[in-house]
Amino acid sequence: MTGKGEIIVALDMKDPGEALSLVRELAPEVTMFKVGMELFYASGSDVIDSIAGLGAKVFCDLKLHDIPATVKRAASVLTRPGVSMIDVHAAGGSQMMVEALAGVYEAAAVQNIQPPRVIAVTLLTSIDHDVLTHELGFGRGLTEYVVTEYVVRMAEVARASGLNGVVTSAFEVGAIHKACGDGFITVVPGVRPTWAGEPHDQKRFVTPREAVFAGADYLVVGRPITRARSPRDAARALLDEVREAREDVRRGKFEHLG
Ligand code: C5P
Repeated sequence: MTGKGEIIVALDMKDPGEALSLVRELAPEVTMFKVGMELFYASGSDVIDSIAGLGAKVFCDLKLHDIPATVKRAASVLTRPGVSMIDVHAAGGSQMMVEALAGVYEAAAVQNIQPPRVIAVTLLTSIDHDVLTHELGFGRGLTEYVVTEYVVRMAEVARASGLNGVVTSAFEVGAIHKACGDGFITVVPGVRPTWAGEPHDQKRFVTPREAVFAGADYLVVGRPITRARSPRDAARALLDEVREAREDVRRGKFEHLG
């Protein structure tokens, strides 16, 4: 089973002018853009409103993690026209996720807008088996698959809390869809087309084609597009690769992640 493989371009920069000119260059072919901490802390909600004003959707990637009441209020502030997705840390617990959802729904009802989807970060991909077991103390000595088990467990808690999906590495997409169903959204960073050259700091990366075959619903792509000589040409090449992969899947081709 594969996901739709929609592309989200990560606007990892602090200058809102630079971010907006990229949106102007890439929309409407790219329909969604990710605003993370750097851009949001530099420009606040204004940049979100400006992106929405250009007709694009926003994934507000602020990874909320605090007591439930605080997260509820923050989630309601982020619920504004154009924001179609926000995220929280699953490690904040079920009650925090439930309150995030409540904040979003209440704010959306007041503004008469579609509520953004709320997704969870299961485990930062910068945290590996050693950090998880030795520093954080999870599942010490249990199995070598403790990272996958933790990620799937967090996804299940997020789903039980009513969330719409998770941010995850492509390598865990299959296990998450198996545990939580194909309707549970997977948002996958760490995507590197073969033509993009160096993978930068991404270690466990996949090609767009591999991400589609793994079942990713959304592919988060930053530097292969934003640092390309022509971001528009890079985005088009990526979109073509995704379309072709989806077509191959439709024709019944089957490929496993290596
Ligand atoms: O430039 P690049 O394609 O590596 O950007 C990936 C984006 O996805 C960045 O904004 C990064 O912070 C984010 N991300 C990630 N890995 C995660 C979660 C988010 O690379 N596990």
